[in-house]
Amino acid sequence: MNRSIALRLAAMFAVAALVVFALVGFALHRVLENALDRHQLEQLNTKFQMMKYTIVRTRTPDRWEKVTAKLDTLSPADGNTEFWVWSADPRFQYGKSLPEVIAAMQGKTGIGEMMIANRPYPMKTEVEEIPAEGQMPAVRFMVGVDSAPFFHTRHAFLIGLLVLSTIGALLVTVLGYVIARLGLKPLNKLSQEAQELSPKNLSQRLQLSALPTELSNLGASFNGALDKLESAYQQLEMFNADVTHELRTPLANLIGQTQVVLSRERSKEQLVEVLQSNLEELERLRAIVSDMLFLTRADQGERASRLVSVSIAEEVNKTVEFLDFIMDEADVKVRVQGDASAQIETSLFRRAVTNLLHNAIQHSKAKAEIVVDVSGDPSEVRIAVSNPGDEIPKEHLPRLFDRFYRVDSARANSTESHGLGLSIVKAIAKMHNGAVFASSGNGITVVGFSVMAEGLK
Ligand SMILES: Nc1ncnc2c1ncn2[C@@H]1O[C@H](COP(=O)(O)OP(=O)(O)O)[C@@H](O)[C@H]1O
Ligand SMILES: [Mg+2]
Repeated sequence: MNRSIALRLAAMFAVAALVVFALVGFALHRVLENALDRHQLEQLNTKFQMMKYTIVRTRTPDRWEKVTAKLDTLSPADGNTEFWVWSADPRFQYGKSLPEVIAAMQGKTGIGEMMIANRPYPMKTEVEEIPAEGQMPAVRFMVGVDSAPFFHTRHAFLIGLLVLSTIGALLVTVLGYVIARLGLKPLNKLSQEAQELSPKNLSQRLQLSALPTELSNLGASFNGALDKLESAYQQLEMFNADVTHELRTPLANLIGQTQVVLSRERSKEQLVEVLQSNLEELERLRAIVSDMLFLTRADQGERASRLVSVSIAEEVNKTVEFLDFIMDEADVKVRVQGDASAQIETSLFRRAVTNLLHNAIQHSKAKAEIVVDVSGDPSEVRIAVSNPGDEIPKEHLPRLFDRFYRVDSARANSTESHGLGLSIVKAIAKMHNGAVFASSGNGITVVGFSVMAEGLK
């Protein structure tokens, strides 16, 4: 779900606030209840002691009236506190003798509770018995304090708590939302900045210094992605420029020749000759396009499949056989030395070796010997093709495997060369998890590649 972070945080704040308010409210409620309870008991006890004192001092029926008068003054008008005295002798009695009162007084002594019909809340009571002495029989007396104020206070407190908690939670939610919005400002800024990026200003980056630490990682990754994108984009642009450049000449040739031929009547022989030359150009174009398609597929991460374990020297020898004719024509020989086994896709492997041998043949003098050296360790097999001939100046070596790169730019438009041979070798090496290498010195040029011995696992 795409809910906003601010709303989500606000909701979480609200839940947190409710939990906190509930816990605090519960604790406060307990404290209040205890305090009220203690207060009520104190009140009860004070009244009880006063009453006991009054009764104990008065033990004759003629003085009993004083007791009742005293109890009358002690009883407040609001009926919050009531006194009762009961004994078998009706002369020593006090208070309305409701059945529930008599039951309570005859029950257990000490602190208790009692419900009276016309009161909505129970009364807290304390009962005691004074044994018979002189003219006075044993009397039981009881003080009752109404719990209504206690319940009312508790009720008011609960309502207050509920209202305050609700208002508090609402406030926290609103404040939480505002805080979250403020806190998320940098994110908005980031997204705004990101929105302003476009292919036209690919070199632009997000300003990391302005970002809080939580976002700077994201910003850095984003900038990293932009770096890669920019370099890929530049590569693509360069590639496009190269392709345009590379295809323009043969196309111009084709158009020019065709226009010249069409400008007046031609003999059949002349037409055939031109068509043949056009065919050569067209084949060259086709070769460039299919090489480029191959490179594109390799770029997209295509790997060698259909791997078979073979002897590399044997595979090189088979490739050399195919080039017999060209070697004879150039008057060069090829020697294969060393061997190792590796898992390769043979058609790709032969294509790479063919390209290397083509280059070696092209750049060798007559009677030269080209050496293909196969060496391997447990992880990697290297195939190095060396030939005596023109050295490649040092500064060209790093770019040798780039597309359309040629050391001698004058050769750019010869039919033999279109500058993709070594980039294809590099692509094939990469498809086998390998690499390429080149060196040139002492009249000998070595160019080669490696493949993983164990395939791609
Ligand atoms: N064995 C070699 N000796 C000297 N130069 C070489 C050799 N192999 C490759 N090169 C140089 O590297 C360039 C790139 O080779 P490549 O990609 O095969 O393109 P192409 O052969 O079509 O020109 C060549 O133009 C050439 O200048
Ligand atoms: Mg070549």
